[in-house]
Amino acid sequence: MNSKIKKILSKKNKTKIICLTSYTKNFSEILDKYTDIILVGDSLGSVLYSFNSTKKVNINMMIEHSKSVRQGVKKSLMVVDMPYNTYKNKIEALKNAKKIIKYTKADAVKLEGGKKIINIIDHLRKNKINVMGHLGILPQSQKGKFRYKGKTSFERKNLLTDAQLLQKSGVFSIVLECIETKLAKKITQELKIPTIGIGSSVNCDGQVLVTDDLIGLNLTKIKFVKSFKNIRKHIELAIKKFSSDVKKKKYPSRKYSY
Ligand code: KIV
Repeated sequence: MNSKIKKILSKKNKTKIICLTSYTKNFSEILDKYTDIILVGDSLGSVLYSFNSTKKVNINMMIEHSKSVRQGVKKSLMVVDMPYNTYKNKIEALKNAKKIIKYTKADAVKLEGGKKIINIIDHLRKNKINVMGHLGILPQSQKGKFRYKGKTSFERKNLLTDAQLLQKSGVFSIVLECIETKLAKKITQELKIPTIGIGSSVNCDGQVLVTDDLIGLNLTKIKFVKSFKNIRKHIELAIKKFSSDVKKKKYPSRKYSY
């Protein structure tokens, strides 16, 4: 087993697991010191490209961003999202997972879904591909408005079953997206593998956020997002100073000229 995955598994019930998204080398260099997992999420479609759905993200976009991220990751486990339509069946899933890993040197891939994709995950695991699961809100198959999961007993039962099936198929961890507090606790307690929550309460074994959200770059209000710093303000100040110095002919001074 990959030693980084072993380390993640060993944190269950001991210490919280820190996971964040990154799409570039510069961000990865900053995150890597504090993260256990760096996720190249297909959220890059909305964050960087203003797509209204992650369905528009393709495998080449994921590979190019992951190649950049790889250069900044030293100690964290690097996971890459398999984008929409790249795991329609087990043959395509294996071909695309191998392609992602070959070009990006990622440690693992992440797929969205439960029992519907268990045969695909089984096939990836048989071929020694490390897989992270993703349950709850599944942006790749979402129709209509996002609403949290675990409202009805039917939904709760299915989510718990899905989590157990994913564990059995050999995923090393599961992202729980927008799952009701008590259900997130139950799933986390029932599983031997760690759960990583996003909008799924403090009861998960770890937390993930989209980095742009936590540093205040994204202006959209999302219930579970806390903006830990307003980086927009700092960027604006730097740009304002550059503009003013250029206009006053203070920049570039002799020091910055050949
Ligand atoms: O695409 C993504 O960034 C994700 C996280 C939000 C978990 O899947």
